[in-house]
Amino acid sequence: MKFLLFTFVGVVHLFSLNSGKAIYKNDNSQRTFQEIKEEVARYGDVAKAIINLAVYGKAQNRSYERLALLVDTVGPRPSGSKSLEKAIQIMYQNLQEDGLENVHLEPVKIPHWERGEESAVMLEPRIHKMAILGLGSSIGTPPEGITAEVLVVTSFEELQRRAREARGKIVVYNQPYVNYSKTVQYRVQGAVEAAKVGALASLIRSVASFSVYSPHTGIQEYQDGVPKIPTACITVEDAEMMSRMASRGNRIVIQLKMGAKNYPDADSFNTVAEIIGSKYPEQVVLVSGHLDSWDVGQGAMDDGGGAFISWEALSLIKDLGLRPKRTLRLVLWTAEEQGGIGGFQYYQSHKENISNYSLVMESDEGTFLPSGLQFTGSEKARAIMEEVMTLLQPVNITQVFRAGEGTDINFWIQAGVPGASLLDDLYKYFSFHHSHGDTMTVMDPKQMNVAAAVWAVVSYVIADMEEMLPRS
Ligand SMILES: *[C@@H]1O[C@H](CO)[C@@H](O)[C@H](O)[C@H]1NC(C)=O
Ligand SMILES: *[C@@H]1O[C@H](CO)[C@@H](O)[C@H](O)[C@H]1NC(C)=O
Ligand SMILES: *[C@@H]1O[C@H](CO)[C@@H](O)[C@H](O)[C@H]1NC(C)=O
Ligand SMILES: *[C@@H]1O[C@H](CO)[C@@H](O)[C@H](O)[C@H]1NC(C)=O
Ligand SMILES: *[C@@H]1O[C@H](CO)[C@@H](O)[C@H](O)[C@H]1NC(C)=O
Repeated sequence: MKFLLFTFVGVVHLFSLNSGKAIYKNDNSQRTFQEIKEEVARYGDVAKAIINLAVYGKAQNRSYERLALLVDTVGPRPSGSKSLEKAIQIMYQNLQEDGLENVHLEPVKIPHWERGEESAVMLEPRIHKMAILGLGSSIGTPPEGITAEVLVVTSFEELQRRAREARGKIVVYNQPYVNYSKTVQYRVQGAVEAAKVGALASLIRSVASFSVYSPHTGIQEYQDGVPKIPTACITVEDAEMMSRMASRGNRIVIQLKMGAKNYPDADSFNTVAEIIGSKYPEQVVLVSGHLDSWDVGQGAMDDGGGAFISWEALSLIKDLGLRPKRTLRLVLWTAEEQGGIGGFQYYQSHKENISNYSLVMESDEGTFLPSGLQFTGSEKARAIMEEVMTLLQPVNITQVFRAGEGTDINFWIQAGVPGASLLDDLYKYFSFHHSHGDTMTVMDPKQMNVAAAVWAVVSYVIADMEEMLPRS
């Protein structure tokens, strides 16, 4: 997951849409809610079959085992890297061998950034080599590095108040962790705000719910007309220590060296596979996760898990010999971490058919034991989703929360298509997010089984119901 800022703008926008006029109106249903409720209830046996196969049957642990094989083989898959392209080719083959239909790759041009060698050494008040990770798209420093005094602030407001002290310094943000969507703005905009007041570089306290001296990287964004300065994340521990030092009046000096470089855009692909609908093949339920990751750890959790339960959803449905009325389409996005580049390309290429997308789903917040489904859509569509989730009673995951979202599907959601995502333990997710700790060790096969079952039941039932989800 990249960042949610955009999402929340989207959600607010959508709610206001719901109360006004929608872009695409497709609720011509003559049926009463009672009839829809009865239709959903008839999927009870199918849902039980999916759950049994995924959680207790022959497919148990399959998504975990498949994921482990991929990420142990190719490792992390940053945008623009050879390992990402290797992963895409492997998945293309995997999906064909799995017997899925219309397996193909859709080209996308994606950013190519590499961190190179990097280091940060505190020179005063004591020598201390710090763990850092450059932030995605950051420029590097000159080869000799940038050696400068530090200004520690805890917020953008404090930076504004102390703007005159920032000139010629390295700004260190020690912002508290509130939640990801709120706090991530320091990662995304920290360098721009520091550059505006004349800083030479900026370091942010990692946006993480928990730290064992772990830097957590992610994308940052420069702004036209504002000088580009190098920027990296540091650990929560070092940010807090420098904050304490500064409050004691210590002078802090850091030498920052970053070999980061942006290269020309690279060729990549969104990876697509389907179970073609039996009755309305043009209509689509889209399930997805992103195949790219950051360049540290293994990208097992973000978003190997989401990508592989999405594949698993189709595998489970195919194994049971089911074919929904609508097409169930799996998309494994490329370059999500760079800002939903693959997702945007896909939207541009396919939006002409937006009226035939019943539901878009993306899992990109972990595949631990789900607490439920997050959903964005009309109140009537939500009521239908609540009925569908009752089918997951056997695994006791029946809740429908607000704000279904995902960087790659938000384009559709903002245009009025109902959207769903999986909610689980975000404290755990943001403990490992974008860090060296994002490895298979974080993943749990049994939890992935349950997550895949939820994903498969929801996508299958919505794809198979007599009518598309209403929009407004
Ligand atoms: C699935 O994984 C769990 C947890 O590691 C393990 O206990 C169980 O035996 C595995 N099931 C199969 C069929 O391998
Ligand atoms: C994050 O925190 C902000 C500020 O407290 C709050 O407005 C927002 O609703 C929170 N977002 C989530 C997803 O909890
Ligand atoms: C749009 O849907 C039609 C079928 O309804 C299909 O033939 C066409 O290829 C689709 N276009 C895109 C860009 O996916
Ligand atoms: C949507 O699907 C319906 C039937 O499945 C088809 O008749 C219609 O042409 C499709 N619309 C688009 C825009 O492809
Ligand atoms: C079912 O899940 C709810 C939370 O969604 C929890 O409060 C309850 O204890 C669970 N019940 C069982 C039997 O696990």
